[in-house]
Amino acid sequence: MRILIVGTGGREHALLWKLRHDAPAAEFFATQPNGGMEPLCTPVPIAPADIEALSGWAASHHIDLTVVGPEAPLAAGIVDRFEKKGLSVFGPSKDAARIESSKVFSKDLMRTAGVPTAEYRTFSNLEGARSWVRERGAPIVIKASGLAAGKGVIVCTTEDEAFDALQAMLGDLTFGEAGREVVIEDFLDGEEISVFAVTDGTNAVVLQPSQDYKRVGEGDTGLNTGGMGAYAPVSIATDEVVTECRIRVIEPTLRALAASGAPFRGLLYAGVISTSDGLKVIEFNCRFGDPETQVVLPMMRTSLLELMRTVAEGGALTPGVAAARPGAAVSTIVASGGYPGSYETGKTISIPDDLESDDCIVFHAGTRNEDGRLITAGGRVLAVTALAPTFLAAADASEAAAARIEFGGAFHRKDIGWRERLRQE
Ligand code: AMP
Ligand code: GLY
Repeated sequence: MRILIVGTGGREHALLWKLRHDAPAAEFFATQPNGGMEPLCTPVPIAPADIEALSGWAASHHIDLTVVGPEAPLAAGIVDRFEKKGLSVFGPSKDAARIESSKVFSKDLMRTAGVPTAEYRTFSNLEGARSWVRERGAPIVIKASGLAAGKGVIVCTTEDEAFDALQAMLGDLTFGEAGREVVIEDFLDGEEISVFAVTDGTNAVVLQPSQDYKRVGEGDTGLNTGGMGAYAPVSIATDEVVTECRIRVIEPTLRALAASGAPFRGLLYAGVISTSDGLKVIEFNCRFGDPETQVVLPMMRTSLLELMRTVAEGGALTPGVAAARPGAAVSTIVASGGYPGSYETGKTISIPDDLESDDCIVFHAGTRNEDGRLITAGGRVLAVTALAPTFLAAADASEAAAARIEFGGAFHRKDIGWRERLRQE
């Protein structure tokens, strides 16, 4: 079997790692693979965004299954293009990917489907938006409707901050087209959980819930990032919570998407928050989360490949929950100094030879091999995942391993999973 992975980051390294476990005899290909993926696959010198070239390449190289990691090619219609060529591909169509690529679409869908989420209004007019902020008061959340590389959500603690955010999006078009329309929604207070479901458009197989640590600083301080670490399982995501998520969030969303003519086949990511008023959806994504994938897939016992093939070939899944190994996984991101602001690249990375084992996996994100050296090539450089019988042991092992990795300016958060630690200590 010949499998192509589209994407170049930590999530894609984890997908490659898991699919290799599920199909040790398969041949793997990946678009512009990072330094950790490269030894595990045949590199394809085509950018993930170049849908036309990729679909042509996959057809002429007899690829049996293509797995798409990032949202941008999904939102641009990579799956529609591959399917038109008769190629088997795992991921939602362009229309179904609107659940992530348009927050207005996503919120309206939730309203239609009766999925619990924050109260909201959508605006493209600055004055109307400002008066809504005055009416609702702070704290309040302003979201650019389109894809904004994880930067389009501004949680505002004062009305002035909200006015500034609206001015930037609707007035100055700082986010370009993505910010021409905004969603303004009520602030939700509670703990966030990421729930991934593989779905054939109707039936869902729910993977083990995880939690992402998005702020750059310890104690959840400082700027938002793409994610500085994650862990799974999450003790507050009990079987009852997962069932509630399936019945009140995932299934009605799938029904509403199918009814709108855009059935969702692929990986639906529900970012939910556990509030005093029950579970509410913060956002949907149309793909695996990064860095949650780097903990969810090492914990997963069910074959991901079997689920993906069934969906890509138009088959029906048996609804349920994917099996996970006992214990816990914690992943700590090692990042470049300055991230999420500007940072330098090209630093030589040193990973001690004895660091990696069955229970410690270094997933590469922003790395590259150059002249026999491994160098940094991005803000989030590595995700160090440790597996252990308990959360506390996994968290300590992940932090200790991350601390042994060296490159100029390297830093990591030492408190990934601190909420879980408080519950368990
Ligand atoms: P997103 O880019 O959509 O993942 O949102 C970034 C982060 O903003 C989320 O992970 C939440 O921490 C926060 N956020 C988004 N919407 C809300 C909300 N309504 N209330 C509180 N926090 C929110
Ligand atoms: N970890 C958050 C995301 O992938 O959007």
